[in-house]
Amino acid sequence: MTSYLLVSRSAEYESRLRRLLGARLQVVPGEYVTFGPDAALRQVDGGPRIALLGPLLSYEETKALIAELSERYPGIGFIVVREQRSDLEDWVDGMEIHAVLSPEASDSTTESLLERLDEWLVTSGRLRERTQAEIDAETRRDEIADVFAMLAPGVRAEESAGDVGDAVRVEPEQGEDEAEGTAGPGVEPETEPEPDWVIPPMGRGIRSEVVVVAAPKGGQGKTTTAINLSAGLAEVHPNSVVLVDADVQFGDIANALDLRPQYSLADVVGVGDDEVAMKALLTRHDDDFFVVAAPPSPELADEIPPSELGVLIRRLATMFRYVVVDTTPGLGEHTLVALEQATDGVFVTNMTVPSLRALRKEFELLVDLDLVPSNRHVILNFVEKNTGILPKDAARIIGAPIDVEVPRSIGAVLASNAGVPLIHNDVRDPAAKAIRTAVQRIEPAAVPTRKRIHRKARAAQ
Ligand SMILES: Nc1ncnc2c1ncn2[C@@H]1O[C@H](COP(=O)(O)OP(=O)(O)O)[C@@H](O)[C@H]1O
Ligand SMILES: [Mg+2]
Repeated sequence: MTSYLLVSRSAEYESRLRRLLGARLQVVPGEYVTFGPDAALRQVDGGPRIALLGPLLSYEETKALIAELSERYPGIGFIVVREQRSDLEDWVDGMEIHAVLSPEASDSTTESLLERLDEWLVTSGRLRERTQAEIDAETRRDEIADVFAMLAPGVRAEESAGDVGDAVRVEPEQGEDEAEGTAGPGVEPETEPEPDWVIPPMGRGIRSEVVVVAAPKGGQGKTTTAINLSAGLAEVHPNSVVLVDADVQFGDIANALDLRPQYSLADVVGVGDDEVAMKALLTRHDDDFFVVAAPPSPELADEIPPSELGVLIRRLATMFRYVVVDTTPGLGEHTLVALEQATDGVFVTNMTVPSLRALRKEFELLVDLDLVPSNRHVILNFVEKNTGILPKDAARIIGAPIDVEVPRSIGAVLASNAGVPLIHNDVRDPAAKAIRTAVQRIEPAAVPTRKRIHRKARAAQ
């Protein structure tokens, strides 16, 4: 929701106000008003709290807009932006105006007027107070607008240039119907152009064998994803999936699966070519997959040279149908070596702007290093409403389409506490269902059959 609406015929004023109010402002170019208040206000999205009308709108136009806006948004405040003051009395008498603002007013005068009017609208009982969630959502929208400005300087250059030339103003089409679908500057277009992806959508892909789960930051859901991918793939290929915890210092897969492994990655990397010896060092999970646990203490990570990890992954790929690798946050050497071997990269992020930006940087680096796996799966985790970010915003920030949206769900935490893969702990959980679609991108045959569900559900008791 945006708090402020500007209807104006001055491109210069419009760009000034946009700079001042950022994502809090929606703009309807005054040209739309020519077709009547209804055509103009059809461009408005959400319920603005204060409308700024002018400069360069006529008395009749302003009056008609105020009447229409009051009906649509009861309680809304009105500021007329106008230089000339000689006929002001007529204006104030003729319509419900709460304040008059000079287009030359300084930014601080403008801001404090907006604040005072908002306060007055609340104390006079016209509008309810904004909730903290609304304020937070607005702040985040502002952050996103900043990110877009940073990512696509060309697109938003007019805002920092301080002057919007006629060329970038959208002229309304003749007739209301045509005007309806035309988005003016500041109004979200209904169909956005395809962004320039850093990593384009995946084509047909190659046969999946080594699936590496990565994320630039911790706590995004890498481990949860890696565990559930392994459990899901093992439904179709029992005992032919191995999950490697390559979060070499702080790996917690053994904990999350309630396993007590006798051996760890530190032992397994040194084993050489002997397949029997290797299998003896793996830990088996009840859901028919094997685990190579992370070393029991962080300093043992030094015993795992990155190149050895690469050799191990290659060897495991010859012994198992699928190798799933969980990684440390970021692009450390171990993770890069794993990605070098990957047929599939699974990238996990939450919906916060810093995480999304970090993932974009990670993608850019992988593109530079030519290390983008052939098959890619982007998982947006902890998805919930009212965060101020929509999945499509997230996709634009990271520069890649989102393949799977996993909702935030207490089921994920309960499963982890129970030491059971989520997709087998609670099949009806919305996060479990979403993660299963990620499994099916790799192995379409991984459908939750009744037999499987019952067996696993019993095992979880
Ligand atoms: N969709 C989700 N909803 C709720 N909690 C989740 C979700 N995904 C993961 N979690 C929880 O968030 C925490 C971090 O997840 P984890 O998979 O360990 O992240 P990472 O391996 O990236 O650090 C864990 O406690 C996990 O149970
Ligand atoms: Mg982890």
